[in-house]
Amino acid sequence: MAVDLRDGVYIAATGVPLTLWWDGAVAAGGALRLVDQTRLPETYTILTCATLDAVVEAIRTLRVRGAPAIGVAAAYGLALGARAALAEPCPGAEDALATLATAAGVLRAARPTAVNLAWALERLLSRAEAHLRNGATVATLPQALLSEAHTIAAEDAAACRAMGALGAELIADGDVLLTHCNAGSLATAGMGTALAPIFTAHQQGKRLRVYVDETRPVLQGARLTAWELARAGVPHTLITDNMAAHFMRCGGIRGVFVGADRITANGDVANKIGTYGLAVLARAHEIPLYVVAPRSTVDLALADGSAIPIEERSPDEVRRVGGALIAPAETPVANPAFDVTPSDLVTAIVTESGIARAPYGASLAALRGKLSMA
Ligand code: MRU
Repeated sequence: MAVDLRDGVYIAATGVPLTLWWDGAVAAGGALRLVDQTRLPETYTILTCATLDAVVEAIRTLRVRGAPAIGVAAAYGLALGARAALAEPCPGAEDALATLATAAGVLRAARPTAVNLAWALERLLSRAEAHLRNGATVATLPQALLSEAHTIAAEDAAACRAMGALGAELIADGDVLLTHCNAGSLATAGMGTALAPIFTAHQQGKRLRVYVDETRPVLQGARLTAWELARAGVPHTLITDNMAAHFMRCGGIRGVFVGADRITANGDVANKIGTYGLAVLARAHEIPLYVVAPRSTVDLALADGSAIPIEERSPDEVRRVGGALIAPAETPVANPAFDVTPSDLVTAIVTESGIARAPYGASLAALRGKLSMA
């Protein structure tokens, strides 16, 4: 894709900072390039992932993170895996599909909560089956999968723009908002999910101020959201997570905007750990909580949030900050990366196809036709 370097940051043709892109020139075969999010904001480093294993490692270690971004990265990872495994002499069609299914399993296991990852892999596997069913050769399969990965990335960028436009209607001139984790361009193939309405409202000339939760344990708010808002010129204030209640009571906050990793059929929302607490606080202070997420995050196969697998991450993410030990080295730790917010605490869910409100069973089902046709 067309990529430009501006002020030391890679930008898409649309002007949005990129978190990942396909570089067709790397060793002439092409590779996935991505911003190493574990090193921001100190260092802006670009990684080159030319193998399935490199993409799996990048997803597992949060070098690429955010539900839509890991879906897109996984799609490119499977295309890279296909390129290596299906090279001449090509296996037969059945063996090729079995090889792809195994590779998809490895990618899927890298991060279990965000359904975007599984969704993107299912799309590629379906594309592979259709490709071979229609009589095309195994040799042309890697190119077909790469083209599907490009399509997923382009669709995600368009979804971000649509969510930005719809969500900006929920923001008034002068609003003070709060966001959690990072749901901006670093987390997607476009301008973001929860940050897209904020960027759009800012571009429309609305005056805003955004409280940014630092988002322990790995500080996506402090390291990534503050970086993105500063680059975009959106006025913002970084707070520690335990300050949210205080500023909801006396900081004039008019709305909480968060992303999602999985939304179930009844509107329950899995998102970064701490979102549920914010939702309870927002309800206590009569502040609306808006969830902004594309169709790839909506999992209508799950009835409610109790069935969502919650990723448990390394205890050292809690025991350490920036590598420095802040607790005894053997302290027992719990580290669920996500929590589930019950749908009755969610004011609205902004998707690229429309805004759903309670009762979500009906409103998400009504969007379903649009979601599957979009
Ligand atoms: O563990 P992370 O950083 O991948 O968690 C990310 C989040 O929880 C985001 O809020 C969510 O993926 C939405 S990103 C557009």
